[in-house]
Amino acid sequence: MTEALLKIENLSIDYPIAIGTVHAVRGVSLEVQEGETLGIVGESGSGKSTMGLAILRLVRAPGKISSGRVLFEGRDLAALPEEQMRQVRGKDIAMVFQNPLTSLNPLMRIDRHFLEALKTHKPDIQKTEALKLIHEILEDLGIEPSRMGAYPHQLSGGMRQRIMIGLGLILRPKLVICDEPTTALDVIVEAGFIDLLKRLQKEFQLTIVVITHNLGLVAELADRIAVMYAGQIVEDATAEAIFHEPLHPYTRGLISCVPNIDLDQEKLTTMEGSPPGLVDPPVGCSFAPRCPLVMGRCRLQEPELKEHRPGHKAACWRIE
Ligand SMILES: Nc1ncnc2c1ncn2[C@@H]1O[C@H](COP(=O)(O)OP(=O)(O)OP(=O)(O)O)[C@@H](O)[C@H]1O
Ligand SMILES: [Mg+2]
Repeated sequence: MTEALLKIENLSIDYPIAIGTVHAVRGVSLEVQEGETLGIVGESGSGKSTMGLAILRLVRAPGKISSGRVLFEGRDLAALPEEQMRQVRGKDIAMVFQNPLTSLNPLMRIDRHFLEALKTHKPDIQKTEALKLIHEILEDLGIEPSRMGAYPHQLSGGMRQRIMIGLGLILRPKLVICDEPTTALDVIVEAGFIDLLKRLQKEFQLTIVVITHNLGLVAELADRIAVMYAGQIVEDATAEAIFHEPLHPYTRGLISCVPNIDLDQEKLTTMEGSPPGLVDPPVGCSFAPRCPLVMGRCRLQEPELKEHRPGHKAACWRIE
């Protein structure tokens, strides 16, 4: 097998707070192959966004990477000098956030956003070349060039989200990280967005990491899914296996919370109980207090994420 495009090794991220330290991401390892779409799912607070931001070293203050490596094409982004990291952001790896209104500058027309994005990485770009690139991407996105003169608030939510994708892709990155890309969209617009992303993926040979608590979205988009719980990955398998042969009791709970993954837009908060606090995570398996299959060992010893079937990993003593 060829080397993964992105390889996260034993990554931990902490937020120091007044009463202690929030261990938001705890020893996460995962790989993303070139051209693949990886979905990261989990309840609110499971550490999905923190991990996504950490790939680009954009974790919200006071958070910081306390250990681990983020290997992108073999280079460790966690240890890269800031100047080189700036080159990686946007050019190699783009990030698309949940709320386009807070990511777009309300005082800047859309065309300026595109020009600035280009100029950041290509300061010497000629205006004609810039306009050509912008027109190409608009065509891909199905956006009328006449909308370029608009301000962000003059566009619909779906249009703004497409602009965000366009801004992310204008520099032709290899990897795009989308954090809850459709939360602000209604179901119809979301369907259009999913089609767009699939089309762009083929056209640009994109690798995509999509972070969400919407199982319907990952069912549509992802080749592989990593399930996060309390800052750790508890299961990592093909989308097919996650939906049809889940191994971890938490994943099974998630799937059964969503009777029809094609239709349901429910958030993953319908399971009984709530995740543990991350200042002082429990000894043993973090899911033990909520697990219908809990045994004595689960409360004493933390299960490791292990491969139980080819390409199918889970962290659970019950499977052993
Ligand atoms: N700036 C911060 N200071 C302290 N703790 C934080 C900060 N940001 C996040 N956390 C904590 O880190 C943990 C992970 O948060 P994160 O936002 O990564 O979760 P998430 O899985 O993206 O959740 P959601 O689905 O709600 O977006 C949570 O316990 C959260 O309270
Ligand atoms: Mg989040």
